[in-house]
Amino acid sequence: MRTPLIAANWKMNKLVDDAVATAGALKPLVADAAGVEIVVCPVFTVLQAVGKALAGSNVALGAQNCYTKESGAFTGEISPQMLKDAGCTWVIIGHSERRQYFKESDALLNEKLHFALKSGLKVMFCIGETLDERQGGSMNDVLRRQVNEGLKGLSETDFANVAVAYEPVWAIGTGVTATPEQAEEAHAFVRGLVEAQFGKNVAEGLRIQYGGSVKPDNAAELIAKPNVDGFLVGGASLKADSFAGIIKAVC
Ligand code: PGA
Repeated sequence: MRTPLIAANWKMNKLVDDAVATAGALKPLVADAAGVEIVVCPVFTVLQAVGKALAGSNVALGAQNCYTKESGAFTGEISPQMLKDAGCTWVIIGHSERRQYFKESDALLNEKLHFALKSGLKVMFCIGETLDERQGGSMNDVLRRQVNEGLKGLSETDFANVAVAYEPVWAIGTGVTATPEQAEEAHAFVRGLVEAQFGKNVAEGLRIQYGGSVKPDNAAELIAKPNVDGFLVGGASLKADSFAGIIKAVC
């Protein structure tokens, strides 16, 4: 049985007071959520404060990006060691906004993934096709490239600390959610790609989250699909009660 992994991606939102208040409000709402793993990923500047607010709870702290070096002359970057120092156990790598706006390549993301794992962080590794790619019929090729290049070189033990988030770009922040059937089809395809490259054991143990306009009222039908193992939630995670509503739909 794969334990559902439900993560909040707050993106570039929330100053410290708001972030701490949201974390503080979330804690009691999910205190008795059993059989799920919960992560909140705020901006770097509020990590420590949110980590303190979540101390002693069942909600873990994650970040939204990291670089491929421990320290040095890399202006504006942040290392996995620094994220751990701030209290993180998780990091998101390869979000479509990083790929699209910051031109992060499959090769760079693969390097980031390896370094984050080597540094002791757990990783949510994001993949997903654009609307043009889906409509143009290249969706499966895009997912194949993102999985094969992105996860290249991982060992079976590495996979204990990796989840893959399938986030169709056309569903992110648009209010248009993939149907449960579309999500299931893509997740099953991705699991098949992982099995072909890494074997049945890895594929069966791998958690594949869905992301893209997940809300409290569509979470239950999505999680009911056999290959959907959790969510990466943007907009609906910004308010404690709606994020908690998604978690409750899964428990
Ligand atoms: P959304 O974002 O829930 O606002 O669509 C999801 C994500 O980008 O991770």
